[in-house]
Amino acid sequence: MNVLEAMKKNSEVIMPESYRELERAELEDRVRAIKKRMGDRLFIPCHHYQKDEVVQFADAIGDSLKLAQISAQNQVAEVIAFCGVHFMAETADILTTDQQTVMLPDMRAGCSMADMADLNQTERCWDVLQNTFGDTVLPLTYVNSTAAIKAFVGKHGGATVTSSNAKNMIQWALQKKERILFLPDQHLGRNISHELGIPLEKMAVWDPIHHTFEFDGDIRDAIIILWKGHCSVHENFRADHVHQLREKDAEINILVHPECPYETVSISDYAGSTSYIIETIENASAGSKWAIGTEMNLVQRLINQHPDKDIVSLNPYMCPCLTMNRIDLPHLVWALESIEKNETAKHQVKVPKEISGDAMLALNRMMEQ
Ligand code: 13P
Ligand code: SF4
Repeated sequence: MNVLEAMKKNSEVIMPESYRELERAELEDRVRAIKKRMGDRLFIPCHHYQKDEVVQFADAIGDSLKLAQISAQNQVAEVIAFCGVHFMAETADILTTDQQTVMLPDMRAGCSMADMADLNQTERCWDVLQNTFGDTVLPLTYVNSTAAIKAFVGKHGGATVTSSNAKNMIQWALQKKERILFLPDQHLGRNISHELGIPLEKMAVWDPIHHTFEFDGDIRDAIIILWKGHCSVHENFRADHVHQLREKDAEINILVHPECPYETVSISDYAGSTSYIIETIENASAGSKWAIGTEMNLVQRLINQHPDKDIVSLNPYMCPCLTMNRIDLPHLVWALESIEKNETAKHQVKVPKEISGDAMLALNRMMEQ
């Protein structure tokens, strides 16, 4: 289900104004009190891109892969209040038991990239791929996709990937079939495939709006078919930013997430997932200089945690991910208080059975690798 559908389904997704009027200390006290009362019955996983005001209450903080694994392992919590975006909460719901409730503090916290591939478009693309290439294509979807897309991929023998394991998963897929449909992030697919030695000339782009391939030459030469989607945050780290910073300071290290465009990643010093970025900065020597191309809440946290290193955002005008930021302290309190009022339905993310089974196939194929 995409965010608009989730909003339609639930007319009470807008938080009462009274929560906005509470002082920060009062909001924090309320979270602490509920966490104390609920103990292990409540679990709060948090993505690294969340705001500090929320992260301080996390029971686990991680990237997409870690949060998926942690959700699958947790058999104790009755309620999982997921501080991340809608597709992550869907994944947690698929991987947890029917007795566990997964909540998203603000149902409007979607992901623009996930919404760039819907099921109708994917089925239409798949028909074209089958007619063009026959049964030679395996679908892989970035976890940043709706449960319906994960189910489609699972049904067709494919798997999910995260930015941490995309390399392994593309290798895995190419052992099974000659070609891959990689959706919805063209940049991650292109960057990782290129890292694996696949030339750009063997990568086609599928435009789901105009139903066409973007490719020079004979389309049958394509090995990787990239869905024309992107992250509206990471797309804003450009090769020009790299050149400008290097001109000012030749010693600066450029470290970017592979959701950034190929032109940026290919001239950076280091590229890798959220966990890789964090580890690289943790292991960097004091006094070293870094420009990081990823979400601003994380970059700011790294700046605060490493005062001995000189860290800036690769794009000086970057904003945090707008949808990740919808989860703030007032929404967290509103969601947690709804548990005790038996009003969790307002926040519950529930993937229908007919979708979760096939989506689970795709997730399991990833977690088994
Ligand atoms: P990872 O957590 O897999 O690095 O993904 C980054 C991201 O954009 C999450 O929305
Ligand atoms: Fe989606 Fe990009 Fe925000 Fe991640 S950072 S949630 S991919 S829009």
